[in-house]
Amino acid sequence: MAEELGRQFEIPDSVKVTEGNGGMPRVVLTHESGSSAEVYIHGAHVTSWKDAEGKELFFLSGESNWAIDKPIRGGIPVCFPQFSGQGSLPPHGFARDRDWGLRRTEVLSNGIVTAELQLTETAETLELWPHQFALGLRLMLDEDALTLQTQVTNTGSQLFDFQLALHTYFSVEDIHRVSVHGLEGIVFIDSLKDGARETESRSSIRFKEETDRIYVDAPDSLRVKDEATGRAITIEKRNMPDAVVWNPWTAKAQRMPDFGDDEYLRMVCLETGTIETRPCVSPGNRWQGETTFSIQGQDR
Ligand code: BG6
Repeated sequence: MAEELGRQFEIPDSVKVTEGNGGMPRVVLTHESGSSAEVYIHGAHVTSWKDAEGKELFFLSGESNWAIDKPIRGGIPVCFPQFSGQGSLPPHGFARDRDWGLRRTEVLSNGIVTAELQLTETAETLELWPHQFALGLRLMLDEDALTLQTQVTNTGSQLFDFQLALHTYFSVEDIHRVSVHGLEGIVFIDSLKDGARETESRSSIRFKEETDRIYVDAPDSLRVKDEATGRAITIEKRNMPDAVVWNPWTAKAQRMPDFGDDEYLRMVCLETGTIETRPCVSPGNRWQGETTFSIQGQDR
């Protein structure tokens, strides 16, 4: 499969299709600056984003499954059409463990390297969720930024609503020296307290225990700072109102078979999505959202 996709979609020096873990095809994008990103056809799952110096920005578990019927642990799982256990579908919906189609790769005139993937209904998805849809993910790789555009088109004849999230796992050196900024004053749903609603009082969120919160209608610009590396990542979202902050900490890490016991120390999830608001899409119409990650020194 990788070979065939390569023939169709490779662009010399910019886009390669290779066999990744588990023999699964992955698309490797390289920007002329040296930055790079990788996305698997399985789940349209972004598993790597490296800066121009080759430093990895995303966390990927050493214990991840690499199998067609299982999601990958780390990177960016795409949660659709359900978030977490908020409905009758499997947790986080079905998009993260299906094979998507690769539709297009391109180098734009400003040097940005792009790849577009798409998932449409199958007999299996129709059994789970009786709607015809096209879910699109477009990656845009720049020197020090990665943008993910998501699109949901209703290709059927009945209105549907959905939830969608980009469940991004950032790589950090030591969770004890990580902070998340931009959520002060925002109402959150605490998944560890039966969905209780509270208001965030901290300007800088730090971690010392399991954390699993959905911040409702969060600001469109958020930041993760990693003091140990002096690196900060800014997250800019558009039409994705909610943000989730998640770290499983010790006990949950031990319960997760595809996650190492100590790996909670080296990751934090800051997810962007539309979770509380379930967009309704009528036949022939389309919803779009976008998230951009950009790398900054902490002083900037
Ligand atoms: C987060 C949820 O988004 O994903 C957590 O808020 C959940 O409750 C986590 O544990 C991981 O989910 P999964 O299905 O990938 O193990």
